[in-house]
Amino acid sequence: MLRTKIAGMGYYVPEKVVTNFDLMKLMDTSDEWIQERSGIIERRYAKKHEETTSTMGAAAARMAMDSCGVNPEEIDFIIFATLSPDYFFPGCGVLAQRALGISKKEIPALDIRNQCSGFIYGLEVADQFIKTGKYKNILLIASELQSHGLDFTTRGRNVSVLFGDGAGAVILQPTEDEDKGILTTHLHSDGTEAEVLSLINPGSHCGYHLGKEQFGYPDIEYGGAFVTDKMFNEHMLFPQMDGQAVFKKAVTKFPEVIHEALKTAGYSTQDVKLVIPHQANLRISQFVQRLLRLTDDQMYNNIQKYGNTTAASIPIAMCEAKQEGRYAEGDLVCLAAFGSGFTWASALVRF
Ligand code: COA
Repeated sequence: MLRTKIAGMGYYVPEKVVTNFDLMKLMDTSDEWIQERSGIIERRYAKKHEETTSTMGAAAARMAMDSCGVNPEEIDFIIFATLSPDYFFPGCGVLAQRALGISKKEIPALDIRNQCSGFIYGLEVADQFIKTGKYKNILLIASELQSHGLDFTTRGRNVSVLFGDGAGAVILQPTEDEDKGILTTHLHSDGTEAEVLSLINPGSHCGYHLGKEQFGYPDIEYGGAFVTDKMFNEHMLFPQMDGQAVFKKAVTKFPEVIHEALKTAGYSTQDVKLVIPHQANLRISQFVQRLLRLTDDQMYNNIQKYGNTTAASIPIAMCEAKQEGRYAEGDLVCLAAFGSGFTWASALVRF
């Protein structure tokens, strides 16, 4: 039976470094508060008018292809995970395809909307296509440009200090080596609390879920119902989050889904060389590490440098951890994610 191996990987982070001290000039916050609650010291922000979610994704993709000697022309399927697409539609998959100069090939491009779990959702989708023999070189990109859409006033500080921009990508190929590649993946979601961490405007909801008056929707039958004056005037076009609710759910679901992957593949935490969690918050990762009794060497964190880059955080961390020698060929690595939706997921990979 075919397995799916991660043949190549790459990442891209914008040059511009934004420190907590930089944010203090824009809002009432402090370096102490941000570091104590999230571990974040700095993050990267994309260059306005020059970088987008799809261009950063394409840059990460080029590095991933170079790392395993695959030409853009050899890619037969693109999967693009993001919560911050260039356009409402079309999705970033086709834009990355165009940026990579392979539109003429007319290969499929699939967009994934699973927020912080998007990369692992993409991994499972790719794994199924590789195992059935349908595709041989899948390019999975996860990229986020959050900085253009955050509220940099004190009102938005609980969200805006946490997030950063960046992209990661992998090339997935078939292997007949039974001991290598993606051993198991596990995806979950629960929409009961969908709005707890969300960006609901602009959207087509027209007030359906939460009451139309709240959003100032005009009482007309057609048109004019996507963005309202009230949304602009009352700052309703930014992400919102109940941080404590997210924290509580995350520290339950991360360990649960990691255990699920280990149990399915017949391993224990001691067998894992490295756990690479979605970089949501250093405090969440530390909590999870304690619960799972993982050593410092077994847990990877780089949120201190990049903030939370949602879907992109796992592939960025995977690349950096490899560059730092935190895992190597033959090692067992567990990826785990939790985020808006809520959605959560894990994957166990033998490199
Ligand atoms: N700087 C300074 N003060 C801030 C602040 C900031 N950036 N953001 C919020 N505060 C204030 C609040 O206004 C509040 O003030 P008050 O007590 O005067 O009302 C106080 O800090 C406490 O706010 P609270 O939201 O209760 O803080 P918290 O201890 O829950 O920490 C988070 C906030 C967001 C850091 C924390 O809840 C968290 O990490 N949640 C998980 C978030 C996450 O990981 N999201 C991504 C998931 S993929």
